[in-house]
Amino acid sequence: MSPTNHQVRLAARPSGLPRASDWEFTSEEVPEPSSGQFVVAVSHLSIDPAMRGWMNAGGSYIAPVEIGAVMRAGGIGRVTASEHPGFAAGDEVYGVFGVQEYAVSDGRGVIKLDTTLAEPTTYLGALGTTGLTAYFALLDVGRVKPGDTVVVSGAAGAVGSVAGQIAKIKGCRVIGIAGGPEKCRTVVEEFGFDAALDYRAGNLRKALREHAPGGVDVYFDNVGGDILDAVLTCIARGARIIICGAVSQYNEARVRGPANYMMLLVARASMTGMLVFDYADRYPEAMAELAGWYRAGQLVSREHIVHGGVRAFPETLLMLFDGANTGKMILALDQG
Ligand SMILES: NC(=O)c1ccc[n+]([C@@H]2O[C@H](COP(=O)([O-])OP(=O)(O)OC[C@H]3O[C@@H](n4cnc5c(N)ncnc54)[C@H](OP(=O)(O)O)[C@@H]3O)[C@@H](O)[C@H]2O)c1
Repeated sequence: MSPTNHQVRLAARPSGLPRASDWEFTSEEVPEPSSGQFVVAVSHLSIDPAMRGWMNAGGSYIAPVEIGAVMRAGGIGRVTASEHPGFAAGDEVYGVFGVQEYAVSDGRGVIKLDTTLAEPTTYLGALGTTGLTAYFALLDVGRVKPGDTVVVSGAAGAVGSVAGQIAKIKGCRVIGIAGGPEKCRTVVEEFGFDAALDYRAGNLRKALREHAPGGVDVYFDNVGGDILDAVLTCIARGARIIICGAVSQYNEARVRGPANYMMLLVARASMTGMLVFDYADRYPEAMAELAGWYRAGQLVSREHIVHGGVRAFPETLLMLFDGANTGKMILALDQG
């Protein structure tokens, strides 16, 4: 008898934070692979703030998840059966497999993992899309140079923690912004930032002015909202602001833009959006460099792993929006 595949499908488009009624749990038989296909038993899911945006109708950088479809998610797992010449049973792989226990793939967008270098889950963290996002945003859009003062929001999170570490490797002075004293301690002690500011403690502008008296050369923005506005008041001439994400706005009906954007004029600064997928043809070069730093102990990958079956997906996603994670949020599918 073939095993059962448990899945999470989008049942309704949320307004505000997703609710239980926005999801549907389904199950079906795991199919046999056809010629040119293989089946993956998914072990871990990448839990991303962007998932909230994929639930909305309307134009974006990627098509919305259709109502009734399996929720989109990156994941890692092991090939269990293959009729594909490039993949064999036992291979550990990454792909966009969806919120389900098994996925059938034709190999497009799937990469094999080098498990001699790192644990498979690291390929959802610093050696995965997370690391690639930090790498290209900071180096290609931020164009950091030694001596720059770099500020990173969401600094204890997946992308932010890697971005700050790369900025340190590149000889910058790096200030993180994170929620709460515990996260701020981790940002400095574990990820090696020069300083961390707790935005929940209030008076972020004053703290920024104290820590970046010469102004902020590069701001790596993961959160938008009030924090973006605070940093805008402290930018240096010619500053580069990287719009990587705006997690504070993802559950808002109306996204609030920056009130202090005229500071871009005053400082002759730029604000640029970036999307990691645009760099797909340069992933190998970035992966080689990230892997080198990881191997040399210069890059720490921290993963925040929640254990549960696919049914734990809805509440695990919500944890991102109240800051429960430190490092890359991952759901391990080991308690069906
Ligand atoms: N452009 C791209 O290609 C690309 C690719 C991947 C990710 N991203 C973006 O990068 C950003 C970070 O993603 P991630 O996967 O690394 O997530 P993450 O930072 O690990 O998790 C989200 C974190 O955001 C913070 N947060 C949540 N609500 C907030 C609020 N209202 N105000 C301020 N901070 C809030 C929380 O940290 P605190 O406890 O510190 O508040 C939370 O831990 C997101 O905006 C994501 O969409 C962009």
